[in-house]
Amino acid sequence: MTGQVIFGDKYFPRPKDEERVWRRLKRGGHLLLLAPRRVGKTSLLRYLENNPQEGYVFLYAMVQSCNTEHEFYKEILEKLYGSEFTNRLDKLSHKSKELITSILANIKGIEFGDAGISFQNSGYKLTASDLEKVINGLELNQKLILVLDEYPDVLEKINNSQGKQAAIDFLANTRSLCQNTELNQKVQFIFTGSIGLDTLANRLGSSGLINDRDKVAIDPLTEASALAFIAFLANNNESKLSLDKPIAIYLLQKIEWLMPYYIEALWLRLEDLCCDEDIENPTETDVDRAFELLFDRNYRTTFNHWAERLNRFEKDEAKLAKIILDKLTETGELSLNEIYNIFQDENYQHLNGNYILDCLEHDGYLFEHQEKSFKFTSPILKEWWRRYADRTL
Ligand SMILES: Nc1ncnc2c1ncn2[C@@H]1O[C@H](COP(=O)(O)OP(=O)(O)OP(=O)(O)O)[C@@H](O)[C@H]1O
Ligand SMILES: [Mg+2]
Repeated sequence: MTGQVIFGDKYFPRPKDEERVWRRLKRGGHLLLLAPRRVGKTSLLRYLENNPQEGYVFLYAMVQSCNTEHEFYKEILEKLYGSEFTNRLDKLSHKSKELITSILANIKGIEFGDAGISFQNSGYKLTASDLEKVINGLELNQKLILVLDEYPDVLEKINNSQGKQAAIDFLANTRSLCQNTELNQKVQFIFTGSIGLDTLANRLGSSGLINDRDKVAIDPLTEASALAFIAFLANNNESKLSLDKPIAIYLLQKIEWLMPYYIEALWLRLEDLCCDEDIENPTETDVDRAFELLFDRNYRTTFNHWAERLNRFEKDEAKLAKIILDKLTETGELSLNEIYNIFQDENYQHLNGNYILDCLEHDGYLFEHQEKSFKFTSPILKEWWRRYADRTL
């Protein structure tokens, strides 16, 4: 249950989701791909990058560690100049390195070397217009798709460290890039990440600055493709474990939210268990035991990122989030009315309950499984919450 980005043969195709992204790209807009953690966003986008349709070239930039707008543009420019991208262009018969070097020479005060970008004046701050100049100067025969992974994290960091106005400016500058018609002939952006960009933008009172983007989702696997994924895992791992269909279906029922990450996690525990105990035909009881193993001390740290998400809240907000999740663990589901009743509690009335509910939804804790009724997205997560939330938070 490592949660690494998946490449090459390890990537299980998700044709409906891939086609959905292509369809939207072909309509010419900029995309917002927001989905909870571990759903497979990065793997999917990197697959598209490495298997682009005719006429498109991708540039992938992980911007999570950027703390300022300057660092954000720097990261993108370095990726543009980096060999991974220029080699790809060379394959497409461009003299890309020369091209990019000459363009960068046009931006005063910037130099590129093997160690990346450097500035003649150490106080130089890159801006959206530097990125605009570079992209406008590129002579590409393809449309450039610029993937900005964990973009909402940058916004959040700017907001936390430099304040609300800096965050709003950042949103506005990104928007000006998205709305620049000359630039849009050359480039389309895909903004992706797991925290709710819309929640954050709402909180900044600036949702208007992102609603020009076309939202795309990644769906859970259907039962049929989840079964195929189990066979794919066995094949990839050269595993001796083969599951009868009813047992595989039982395993999927335990997962409920059929995302590859969770299926793989349980399947790996089952494989360990069966190999250790020489079990050739696992039963439902073995699947139940494998499910228990997910919470074994050795694997439990993989849940840490769920706790980290809640640590982003202010103290009182975290308390309210915890109460909602505790209640949800107890009752299995909560109606919107029940949630609103919790918001009315005198201890929490001063908080923006809808914001917290929104965050819990975006972070992938819960989802609206029927109109106005919420559940944990995954029974695995619910079980972890039941057992360890008090200790972890
Ligand atoms: N298409 C796929 N084929 C096989 N495994 C996948 C696929 N997509 C996701 N996974 C599994 O899910 C894990 C998480 O995938 P990935 O890092 O792409 O998700 P993410 O949505 O970008 O997560 P995060 O929000 O944490 O960045 C992978 O390590 C892998 O185990
Ligand atoms: Mg990712």
